[in-house]
Amino acid sequence: MTRSTLLFLGAALLPLIQLISAQTCNSTSLCPSTAPCCSEYGYCGSGSYCLGGCEPLYSFKSTSCRPNPICVSQETNFNDLSKVQLNGTKFDGNATAYDWVVNTGNLIADPSGQGVRLTLKESDQGTKISSTRYIHYGSIDFVLESSKWNGVVTAAITMSDVKDEIDWEWPGAITDKVQTNYWFLGVANYSATQGAAVDIASDSSSNFHTYTFDWQEDYLNWSIDGQVVRTVLKQDTLSDDGTQYKYPSTPSRIQLSIWPAGISTSAQGTIDWSGGMIDWTDPDYVSNGYFWNTLQSVKISCANQDNTLNSTTGWAYGGNDTQGIPIVDITNASTLLSGAEPSILLVKKSTVAVLLSTIGLATLTGIALL
Ligand SMILES: *[C@@H]1O[C@H](CO)[C@@H](O)[C@H](O)[C@H]1NC(C)=O
Ligand SMILES: *[C@@H]1O[C@H](CO)[C@@H](O)[C@H](O)[C@H]1NC(C)=O
Ligand SMILES: *[C@@H]1O[C@H](CO)[C@@H](O)[C@H](O)[C@H]1NC(C)=O
Ligand SMILES: *[C@@H]1O[C@H](CO)[C@@H](O)[C@H](O)[C@H]1NC(C)=O
Ligand SMILES: *[C@@H]1O[C@H](CO)[C@@H](O)[C@H](O)[C@H]1NC(C)=O
Ligand SMILES: *[C@@H]1O[C@H](CO)[C@@H](O)[C@H](O)[C@H]1NC(C)=O
Ligand SMILES: *[C@@H]1O[C@H](CO)[C@@H](O)[C@H](O)[C@H]1NC(C)=O
Ligand SMILES: *[C@@H]1O[C@H](CO)[C@@H](O)[C@H](O)[C@H]1NC(C)=O
Repeated sequence: MTRSTLLFLGAALLPLIQLISAQTCNSTSLCPSTAPCCSEYGYCGSGSYCLGGCEPLYSFKSTSCRPNPICVSQETNFNDLSKVQLNGTKFDGNATAYDWVVNTGNLIADPSGQGVRLTLKESDQGTKISSTRYIHYGSIDFVLESSKWNGVVTAAITMSDVKDEIDWEWPGAITDKVQTNYWFLGVANYSATQGAAVDIASDSSSNFHTYTFDWQEDYLNWSIDGQVVRTVLKQDTLSDDGTQYKYPSTPSRIQLSIWPAGISTSAQGTIDWSGGMIDWTDPDYVSNGYFWNTLQSVKISCANQDNTLNSTTGWAYGGNDTQGIPIVDITNASTLLSGAEPSILLVKKSTVAVLLSTIGLATLTGIALL
């Protein structure tokens, strides 16, 4: 086990992190300089904590996180995994070397050669992959087949480091509808038309459809096979007090996943939403050893207004504007971790013994004590 294994905050590690009471971070409790980066799960660290998902406003400084690698228009056909880093812990921030990283779980080639299956086993938390680059407006076409079992969710989303989010979600065994959602700084507006389910022309688990986000500064359209099924206009998201457009507006990674909602540790509402508890004796599960969805391709078309200078490497955050909306700007700073950079996890002194006996000293460059 290497130190980066420890620093990989995948689902498998989350219980461990909780066990050792790692330093958490939030809007009122920023990370200290010794472990400056607030990971997407809200823990302070350095090294890989400063890459994709690093929360700029909860980190020591908004520039503690590496910049969000700039968008490049491209299409990935998932029959070819040469630009997919299958072991996400090895990613060093070089978005030229890899277009995607596997954060958790496993990809298995589709038996009929139509891309890859994202898999879910009873012993894991499913599979999640993320683009290494970010998109700041543009369109994304996902060509996929959803999962089709109660309690199992397929998702194709964009997610920013400050939790602006746009979703397609296929909960449970419903294969004639898909849900659309969007979030502004981690808050969904369920009072409006959030979570709207829209019809799909043919069974989503046995037919590939093209699901598109057309995300622009002024509007957001969701389309299926070229037909717009939902539109949100930015102008309609103005808060009641007229101060803020509650509209996703920050650079986002693209993520695809299959995850278990129908398990005992989920909230009852989540279980119900996903169609109930997962049946691990389902014949599909028993014969394959996993549940799955199938991803054929993802096409990214950047709204490239921010990528006109050859020296631009990415986007960086510079705090909030007067409306509390995070400010992002282009930067030419490196998106890579430097090899010499120590990977440190900040833990409470009282839990070091647990940490060391669980994972061993060799896994860390250093431990900072609270
Ligand atoms: C992923 O990479 C890490 C760090 O190089 C290594 O320790 C780990 O064994 C790898 N995991 C797998 C499943 O190959
Ligand atoms: C932020 O974290 C601190 C320390 O863990 C905690 O006391 C506080 O309640 C948290 N604040 C929010 C808004 O979650
Ligand atoms: C990033 O990856 C590309 C492609 O593998 C490689 O040519 C380049 O040298 C790498 N950059 C750095 C700084 O390692
Ligand atoms: C939700 O949307 C409605 C209608 O667009 C709006 O009036 C309301 O203020 C929004 N609520 C929140 C919490 O954003
Ligand atoms: C977005 O959807 C709206 C409503 O269906 C439509 O009027 C508009 O033309 C769409 N925009 C694009 C670029 O497809
Ligand atoms: C960017 O790079 C291309 C190809 O290397 C070059 O032709 C172009 O002049 C450069 N643009 C700027 C603004 O430097
Ligand atoms: C990076 O940006 C800084 C500040 O804008 C500028 O001074 C510097 O020349 C740029 N470096 C490169 C390599 O473009
Ligand atoms: C930015 O605004 C958000 C929302 O109002 C707030 O939670 C956060 O603390 C602010 N961050 C900074 C760095 O001002």
